[in-house]
Amino acid sequence: DTLLNLAYQMPKTELHLHIEGTFEPELMFAIAKRNNIPFKYDSVDALKSAYQFENLQDFLDLYYQGMSVLLKEQDFYDLTMAYLKRVHQDNVVHVEIFFDPQGHTSRGISFETQINGIYRALKDGEQQLGITFKLIMSFLRHLSESSAFETLELAKPYLDWIDGVGLDSSEVGHPPQKFANVFAECKKLGLSITAHAGEEGPPEYVWEAIETIQVNRIDHGNRALEESDLIAEIKKRGLTLTVCPLSNLKLCVVPNMDNHPIKSMLKFGLNATVNSDDPAYFGGYINDNYKALIKDSGISKNELYTLACNSFNGSWLSSEQKSRHL
Ligand code: HPA
Ligand code: ZN
Repeated sequence: DTLLNLAYQMPKTELHLHIEGTFEPELMFAIAKRNNIPFKYDSVDALKSAYQFENLQDFLDLYYQGMSVLLKEQDFYDLTMAYLKRVHQDNVVHVEIFFDPQGHTSRGISFETQINGIYRALKDGEQQLGITFKLIMSFLRHLSESSAFETLELAKPYLDWIDGVGLDSSEVGHPPQKFANVFAECKKLGLSITAHAGEEGPPEYVWEAIETIQVNRIDHGNRALEESDLIAEIKKRGLTLTVCPLSNLKLCVVPNMDNHPIKSMLKFGLNATVNSDDPAYFGGYINDNYKALIKDSGISKNELYTLACNSFNGSWLSSEQKSRHL
């Protein structure tokens, strides 16, 4: 199939990816075993059969449980390297990945342990696979703003390794506004900013991400389509939306793939991109996301080109770095 081949072979970036969401059950069991952690599920299949979600929170409960077997720097290294090797096969040439430091510091794993493992794998991946990268530290929005500030303090010795900050976890009830002060501080430090908004939360949260937090990018943004003023604002500012089709399907953000909102986003002239979010939990890496769109939503060749171009334009690479990839 020519569209599938095109999608698979296009060089592309991934801009919305939680490294803890790439934790495949096989690796999870192996790391649990070497760390002597008893595990609630007795087989890979038993664990996989639990991956049925009705909403974001159902998923998050398993996501935090899965990541809890990560203890050592080598665990974070192995997790990250496995992801890079996997997406190298999908012709991903640049990644901007999230990690959730509070998901680990809350369990007594130091910030240093996490970032040393992740960063070393990213550097090795760049050397061995030619995949360039940006690292994004994400704050957990179900926790307090003061916890986000404490995390930012822990990050300060590593700001040379951290390109941006994000906002993830349970959206409804935790608007971007709650983190206005900490993001203002991040901006002063020169960090790029993105935030999950409009995945389950209302258009109001997307407005807050734009106007209060002054994001450089919006993660998901599906519910922005409910307001024409908001669509116009996103377009005027040229903000990129990091859309995650299979994630939307698995978390019941969309009822099916036939009319996935990414098509409307493109028609409105918004800079939408395709991403995998948490591929180990949602049943596919980036090319699987393209495949689902091609199969069910009737996406065209031109739209595929646009999506791949958008993935570079929406990245935080300099124009010189971009041209080296193209
Ligand atoms: N939404 C919010 N928080 C998350 C997600 C997501 O899709 N994935 C990992 N943490
Ligand atoms: Zn996400």
